[in-house]
Amino acid sequence: MSPSHYTQIVLASRPADSAFIEADNFRKEVVPFDLKPQKGQVLIRVQYLSIDPATRLWLSETKTFLAPIPIGSVMQTIGIGAVIASGEDTSLVPGDLVSGDLDMAEYTIRDATAVQKLELPLNTQALDYIGPLGHIGLTAYFGLIDIAQIKAGETLVVSGAAGAIGSIVIGISGSTKKCEWLEQELGIDKALNYKSPTFKDDFSKAVGTLDVFYDNVGGEALDLALASMNLHARIIICGTILDINTAEQYPLRNYSQLLSKRATMRGFSLYDYTARLEEGRKYLTELVTKGAIKQRYHVLNGLDTAPGSLGILFRGENEGKLIFTLATDVQLHGSSDFPSANLNHYHHGRYIEVLDARTMSNINHVATRLGKLLHLAHQVPCAPKRARGR
Ligand SMILES: NC(=O)c1ccc[n+]([C@@H]2O[C@H](COP(=O)([O-])OP(=O)(O)OC[C@H]3O[C@@H](n4cnc5c(N)ncnc54)[C@H](OP(=O)(O)O)[C@@H]3O)[C@@H](O)[C@H]2O)c1
Repeated sequence: MSPSHYTQIVLASRPADSAFIEADNFRKEVVPFDLKPQKGQVLIRVQYLSIDPATRLWLSETKTFLAPIPIGSVMQTIGIGAVIASGEDTSLVPGDLVSGDLDMAEYTIRDATAVQKLELPLNTQALDYIGPLGHIGLTAYFGLIDIAQIKAGETLVVSGAAGAIGSIVIGISGSTKKCEWLEQELGIDKALNYKSPTFKDDFSKAVGTLDVFYDNVGGEALDLALASMNLHARIIICGTILDINTAEQYPLRNYSQLLSKRATMRGFSLYDYTARLEEGRKYLTELVTKGAIKQRYHVLNGLDTAPGSLGILFRGENEGKLIFTLATDVQLHGSSDFPSANLNHYHHGRYIEVLDARTMSNINHVATRLGKLLHLAHQVPCAPKRARGR
């Protein structure tokens, strides 16, 4: 039975160019339920929504690779939901699980061709499709294997968290707790806290020189990486979380090193890989089903948490892939359990974390784990560990 009303989150105002996103940039609305799928459309009950740094781009006036969301419009983000009704001419039926760009709302209408039907392989759960089997894992996969063309024996540094392949594994993160976790849980060689007053020295000592810098952040760490490149190093620009909140870009001082080191700096977007998503997903599914890549989620409970969620992300308070969960009582085909059955930790009734993780499902963490696994999978001989502090 349809509800009489449903809740949605609307963009109330744009954050100023250099301003942090505040909860009052969004507005919660409870609106009458009048959603009816037309020909080729489906009505979706939303279950999980992903909170991503890129959501910030939708809030800007300037068009990036994401078109700005008009003020007063319902926010969007990547999500997962269950089809509860379908119009004519769609192959999707009620009970199908789908993912795609969804509204930040309890219910939404989408063209059936704009969402992807999910079949859950053994040992996977719906959430994986906004984690290692979704945009997170796929971005790490294509960034490392296609853009970075990472090889065994090379030193990979990942900003925003951790990195791993071949000889030396260095991760950069924003708290002692996260650094301890990266070293102890992921077993990386060294984790550096970019907020430490000694970060610059720590970076030079730990990294020495690098072959691949997988950058999720920009700013000082990127500049240090430019100054620390080996010949033919590759700087991969996956994200610019530092500059995303401000119109002012961090001035890079070591840009000229790209010439002397015959290095490349290349940005990429997962949108470039639409035709190859199945390849990445096949590879990642094998790893997830074997338990080689697990996941950790930081889950906010309910749409009420949506306005404050981006702040959590940009303050670095998330410990794992930040998502929020909505419906918890949807029956899916072939399953009597809602796929959130193993969300097992409630904290202050507000958020839940899945803690069965060896690694987290943020891009930087998947990149870390994937780096190691790609190396193992291809059985590339690994160079002996180089001494630190070069
Ligand atoms: N190229 C693509 O196609 C593509 C696709 C998806 C995402 N991305 C990008 O990939 C990056 C990682 O995405 P994700 O979803 O995995 O995000 P995420 O790791 O969940 O990102 C949030 C983390 O970034 C760190 N952070 C926040 N503000 C920071 C700042 N000013 N300086 C340094 N670190 C900061 C925080 O951790 P700390 O505690 O360490 O500060 C925070 O926990 C983002 O830049 C995103 O835009 C790119």
